[in-house]
Amino acid sequence: MIKESEYKKRRDSLAKKMPNNSVGVIFSAEPATRSHDTHHPYRQESNFYYLSGFKEDNAVLLFLKTKEVVKTVMFVHKKDRALELWNGERLGAKEAKKSFLVDEVYESSEFKKRLKEFMKGKDTLFCELGSKKREVKKLLKLTKDFKTKHDIIPLVQKMRLFKSAAEIELVKESIAITTKAHHRAMRVNKKDRFEYELQAEIEHEFKINAAYSDAYTSIVACGNSANTLHYIKNDKPLIDGELILIDAGCEHNYYASDITRTIPVNGKFTEAQKELYNLVLETQLRVISMIKPSVKRSHLQESAEMMLTKGMVELGILKGNYKKLVKLQKHKRYYPHGIGHWMGIDVHDPAPYKDKKHREIPLQKGMVLTIEPGIYIDKDDKSVPERYRGIGIRIEDNILVTKDGYENLSSAIAKTVDEVESISTKL
Ligand code: GLY
Ligand code: MN
Ligand code: MN
Repeated sequence: MIKESEYKKRRDSLAKKMPNNSVGVIFSAEPATRSHDTHHPYRQESNFYYLSGFKEDNAVLLFLKTKEVVKTVMFVHKKDRALELWNGERLGAKEAKKSFLVDEVYESSEFKKRLKEFMKGKDTLFCELGSKKREVKKLLKLTKDFKTKHDIIPLVQKMRLFKSAAEIELVKESIAITTKAHHRAMRVNKKDRFEYELQAEIEHEFKINAAYSDAYTSIVACGNSANTLHYIKNDKPLIDGELILIDAGCEHNYYASDITRTIPVNGKFTEAQKELYNLVLETQLRVISMIKPSVKRSHLQESAEMMLTKGMVELGILKGNYKKLVKLQKHKRYYPHGIGHWMGIDVHDPAPYKDKKHREIPLQKGMVLTIEPGIYIDKDDKSVPERYRGIGIRIEDNILVTKDGYENLSSAIAKTVDEVESISTKL
């Protein structure tokens, strides 16, 4: 769990980046309509959550900075018994003041009036400039006389690049649940079943382990479906002899996990599947072993491209000199995506990849990223030996950068051919 003192430290550190005589404002997420009058379960906006740990809607975080003092103010939905009957409990301003280490708490209905007071003597605004939230539009009107306006979000996102010890614990908890889910998917008998049934097995495991949600829509792609990178229909039958690419991770206490395993429907890889699988696996293991502070992600990308391309030449999938093929981007047809991304509160944590001068930010202790090479060969690709057609493979783990290397946070999930085969139920 993240302690209140840690949230306070984050707010203090954000306020430190703001100049004197400035106001900073962040709004909670707007509730999302699913269709007509039904709603998605409410999820707090990630930056708001990172700064507050507060999970309710209709809330505002306000930072007031002068030469003398920094004040943080929170606005929350009022305690309203009538509404609570329908929509559940609200903390209310009085309880919020007791629970959160902010200087002042008011009801959201007072925001406009209080802001007008707080704005006096201030000339700089930090807010979610690029946001479509209705409240942001209203705020920009209210503050039209401010001299300068800045986007507050990049300041928060930069902080989110580095995970604290408590955050790393939460990521580990999220991965522990996802581990159970992937192992359940391997174990379950897949005879005459559909991709969505396997998805249900995975998400069942998330829910019974108190992971309220998936961190992104699960991909359960059998055979050629795996060659559609964002396949989420999951509506096809599981076919004996094919592989299933499963990219699924839960969100637990607001922290994501993002794991891919590619497993045989009948519990045993064919020789051709094994050849491709081991190429992806060896590439993944090598790339992971390169991780340490000061290494650049682009270097990991290039290394993965080189290794995969060299292997694909050896298997007769590509023809020519592998270095030249990479230069000509020929590998992109079979490995079109990135080697990995930051992960944390969001599955694709929106922390920066480049600094202010557009230079790539090298890996540093406390960063968490995915490593996810893959090979995808369409069933109709006549340029490839027939035995490899219709196979899509990705292997993805979640890695913490440590002081002098890395920790694979998802190393407990079966991954080698032997490990996967020994845990899988045979048809
Ligand atoms: N699950 C999304 C990704 O792997 O990036
Ligand atoms: Mn993934
Ligand atoms: Mn990923």
